[in-house]
Amino acid sequence: MASTETRPAPLPTGLPGIPGLFDPPFVADPFPTLAALRSTSPVHFDPGTGLWLVSRYADVRSVLLDPGTYLPDNAQHSVTPLPVRVLRILARAGFSLPPALANNRGADHAGLRRLVMRFFNAERVAAAVPMVEQTAAEMLSGPRSRYAAGDRCDLAAEYARLLPCRVMMRLLGIDGVSASTLATWSDAALELFYGHPPAGRQLHLAEQVGAFHQWLTAQVSSAAAADGLIGGLRRHRKPDGTPLDAATAVAVCFFVFIAGQSTTGQLISTALLRAVSDPRVWSRVAVEDGFAEAWVEEILRREPPVTTWRRVTARETELSGVRLPAGAQLLLMLMGTGSDPEMFGDPEQLCPHRENIRHHLAFGAGRHRCLGASLARTEAAVALRAAARALPDAALVEPGTQPPMLGLLSFRAPLQVVVHRHSGR
Ligand code: HEM
Repeated sequence: MASTETRPAPLPTGLPGIPGLFDPPFVADPFPTLAALRSTSPVHFDPGTGLWLVSRYADVRSVLLDPGTYLPDNAQHSVTPLPVRVLRILARAGFSLPPALANNRGADHAGLRRLVMRFFNAERVAAAVPMVEQTAAEMLSGPRSRYAAGDRCDLAAEYARLLPCRVMMRLLGIDGVSASTLATWSDAALELFYGHPPAGRQLHLAEQVGAFHQWLTAQVSSAAAADGLIGGLRRHRKPDGTPLDAATAVAVCFFVFIAGQSTTGQLISTALLRAVSDPRVWSRVAVEDGFAEAWVEEILRREPPVTTWRRVTARETELSGVRLPAGAQLLLMLMGTGSDPEMFGDPEQLCPHRENIRHHLAFGAGRHRCLGASLARTEAAVALRAAARALPDAALVEPGTQPPMLGLLSFRAPLQVVVHRHSGR
């Protein structure tokens, strides 16, 4: 991860005093910028990225619910241009991302969505709870013994990052690869397509993404893949009755594997960080029925892992009085919508019992609404509760200090949650 290259030039927002979307002050504390955008320029052209930032709850929701005007085609485009050397690496690995799920406005989207949904619907998730609890317990055993011995442990790196990957592998019957390799591939894909890495780092990330794509391609073409998601994709027929091509099957897996692990790990890290920062919250998470679930929901509203999502206009249109040309690239500020005072009272407070607690847009809305929402919510609550029970007197080693944060265009979460046993309790 460490790079000796200098950071690429900052990308300004064009608003006086407001940092660019990749600037460290924005990543550390995006709330003032999001509030300024909502109140002064709710549909704002960002010269740094060429994206129109849409920040009010009502506007973002109306965009998500109008798939005829606002297309999902750009959902997985690289925000930082990929130089020829990077494109060559991807091409050598046979990399392509034809429309499949999040970036698919075509007639085959609904059928693919139904197929994937079979693996992640509410009943499947409810049935998986004992497996998630078991996986969480296994993963906490190392940190727990070190914690008991008075040592520190990093709950983001050792627990939150890998738990969703192991759960996903068990749910989908994936083996022959380690959870940490899958997590590394997935994180590399997020950074390459949603980050602002220097050129040398892009080359390294492209190698990882190419390896991930090749591994998925081998899985999809393997004769052994009769069951599970991959088997389902192989048997799938498009609306015209023809079989699904291998490239689209790989694109489905590529998206599901990344969405299913990185984002959920990020949610768990943020939920852990905010809960362990307050001893009363940490103990309520451990003992009070439903508290972990409600805490996760408030984190999804206020500080979600998927901070933004993209759309592109199909034709010229108007949004909140601003004229948008055809082909305008929109960045929907999902995170900002959760703190819109028009929608949520006292938005800066985490209130696990607020009335409209589930009305946030952290999972999107409409035709492309996240189909892993049920798994993500359940897994995060189980993970949080298991950690609070295993490490009952945990406290941050550096309370009051913001840990290093992942700061990509659409993803934000703490990279470290380092805790130890609090001696005063
Ligand atoms: C905290 C964790 C997660 C968050 C915050 C999240 C968020 C999102 C968002 C914002 C979208 C785009 C919605 C839209 O365009 O309206 C999305 C789509 C999607 N998510 Fe998630 N996601 C999470 C976890 C998961 C998991 C665990 C899975 C799979 C198991 C998953 C699978 C998908 C899929 C397949 C789509 C595309 C659906 C479609 O286009 O029809 N996500 N997610």
